[in-house]
Amino acid sequence: MTPTSARPLCMPSPELFSTRVLAWFDQCGRKDLPWQQDISPYRVWVSEIMLQQTQVKTVIPYFERFIATFSDVQTLAYAPEDTVLHLWTGLGYYARARNLHKAAKQVVHEHAGRFPSTIEGLCDLPGVGRSTAGAIVSIAFRQRASILDGNVKRVLARYRRVSGWPGQSAVHQRLWDIAERYTPAERCADYTQAMMDLGATLCTRSAPACPLCPLATDCQALANGDQRDYPGKKPRKILPVKTTCFLIARTTGGDVWLEKRPPSGIWGGLWCFPEVDDAQTSLERCLDLWGIAPIKVAPQSGFRHTFSHYHLDITPIIVELHTTPDTVMEAPRQLWYNLDKPPQIGLAAPVASLLETLAGPHPQMEY
Ligand code: ADE
Repeated sequence: MTPTSARPLCMPSPELFSTRVLAWFDQCGRKDLPWQQDISPYRVWVSEIMLQQTQVKTVIPYFERFIATFSDVQTLAYAPEDTVLHLWTGLGYYARARNLHKAAKQVVHEHAGRFPSTIEGLCDLPGVGRSTAGAIVSIAFRQRASILDGNVKRVLARYRRVSGWPGQSAVHQRLWDIAERYTPAERCADYTQAMMDLGATLCTRSAPACPLCPLATDCQALANGDQRDYPGKKPRKILPVKTTCFLIARTTGGDVWLEKRPPSGIWGGLWCFPEVDDAQTSLERCLDLWGIAPIKVAPQSGFRHTFSHYHLDITPIIVELHTTPDTVMEAPRQLWYNLDKPPQIGLAAPVASLLETLAGPHPQMEY
């Protein structure tokens, strides 16, 4: 954790650190992001959850659609989970959406619709950790609070040349100590935004723009020319590979069979194709589900979907049915998804792209 052979630099006071960061923010920081307008705890909370592990440019359209549909925490709390997941489709990390929905219910039922204004109170909400709580307290409640998201970790690890992977608790604690020390009492909201912006726009992972950085004069990693070594990398793990087949049952009328996944586990609460072992079991599943054999069974080329903890190799198997069977649905867990009139439901990412392909011209699929 302590750097080896560091060239010693005289470190400026925390006041000088934050003054430089704030002066840079006034000139170069982002001030026109959608969640920086009409600031409220609700809007800041939604944006901060969406921005966990996701870049600003990806989040903007999702944030705008989400706020247009759920303008306040009550509307979100009383919305069907399927609608919430539908608006999250494509953003990934769906536990965030389920937690957001649960947290909205908690705010409405346990806090009379008002967001807690303390770090501890906010951390009680599902999906809100210490850094997200710090961002909400500083940006929405205008109180002094520190943050330590991925971007800020990178800025501070380089500035103080803190070695080691921030997932290790000693490294994490050291970075939090530094973050707390540098957080100013005044203009804390701007400082929070400035630190995120510095990490996202200048102090980037592989091409840091050090000549433009307000912290360049005393950045320890820059002085040693080893910025790219900070923060330390997570020890690399070889991900295991699992395999599955998606049974894509579709009718000539453009209906496709989907099933809702259980609330926990991968793609929890999202709609997906049934999983089968192979072409033979897909045929048996058709007989089980509808008592009819398909007119065609066509396995497609496979593709890989990677989760944080394993690769999943997926082979789609298209089975063609001549008509949409009359089905007593195990409502609300099964449905015929009509490609021309798609219902508003949350789809697992590879399911959403396969449905898009199915909605296009048929020759994209292999027979
Ligand atoms: N990343 C996390 N929170 C952010 C914010 N408020 N603005 C830009 N990037 C962010």
